[in-house]
Amino acid sequence: MRAAATRRRPAGRLAAADLFEFDQDHYGGIEAVDVLARHAGVRRRSRVLDVCAGLGGPARFLAAGRGCRVVGVELHGGRAAAAARLTRDVGLAAQVVVVRGDALALPFRAHAFDVCLSQEGLLHIADKPAALAECRRVLMPGGRLAFTDWIAYARLADGEHEQLRRWMAATTLQSLDSYRALLGRAGFGSVDAHDITHEWRPVLRARLERHRAGRADIVARFGAQWADEYDRLFGFFVGLVEAGKLGGGRFSGTA
Ligand SMILES: C[S@@+](CC[C@H](N)C(=O)[O-])C[C@H]1O[C@@H](n2cnc3c(N)ncnc32)[C@H](O)[C@@H]1O
Repeated sequence: MRAAATRRRPAGRLAAADLFEFDQDHYGGIEAVDVLARHAGVRRRSRVLDVCAGLGGPARFLAAGRGCRVVGVELHGGRAAAAARLTRDVGLAAQVVVVRGDALALPFRAHAFDVCLSQEGLLHIADKPAALAECRRVLMPGGRLAFTDWIAYARLADGEHEQLRRWMAATTLQSLDSYRALLGRAGFGSVDAHDITHEWRPVLRARLERHRAGRADIVARFGAQWADEYDRLFGFFVGLVEAGKLGGGRFSGTA
């Protein structure tokens, strides 16, 4: 998939693949997008919605590699605007549109999409039943939702839940089973739920180690206070994953 996306580079111009190292705001990079897209059955003719689209990285990866059209919805105005600019810069504006909008009130008519994807976005949304209901509303009957998100294990203490909410805007974290139940209640069938903590753990550990190895440079650019704060927050998060209290899940279901 990386090769297919790279081949589309017009001479002398920035290509989508030039950004993939920087514009994927989830764990596992473009490989994780590829796996999710396979779970959802994304094809060239699929109309794809990316909920909580961030800077539009996953949307551009899919459009460049699979040739499909992707609409992204992103709550943060600055991120939505940056996504539009980056998409223009790499020449994908005909295939990818990122609009500013709320996953809880998707600005689209019913049955407008064949596939709905989301990566590490739903953790920020307290009303998960409402978000899943919106995904179902905009999907064609038979359309597929696939997403990845953090999951909480039973051992995660109330105080840790609260710290995750305050420090990382992580709210109403679900378990594998409770997400499975929510998908069923939202009307999705053929529900799949997989624990992917083992895939995330090395990614998270490597990210923390990279941060610590690059401390001198980070302090020079952003100051010691910022470097220490990041270390404390991300270290806390990685510690929870290492302790088996927090992890990741990959989910899919048919509308
Ligand atoms: C961790 S980022 C993931 C971005 C993107 N999915 C990716 O993988 O590159 C989560 C994104 O969700 C967005 N978000 C949070 N709440 C949202 C909501 N209610 N509706 C739409 N986007 C939301 C945030 O602004 C943020 O850009």
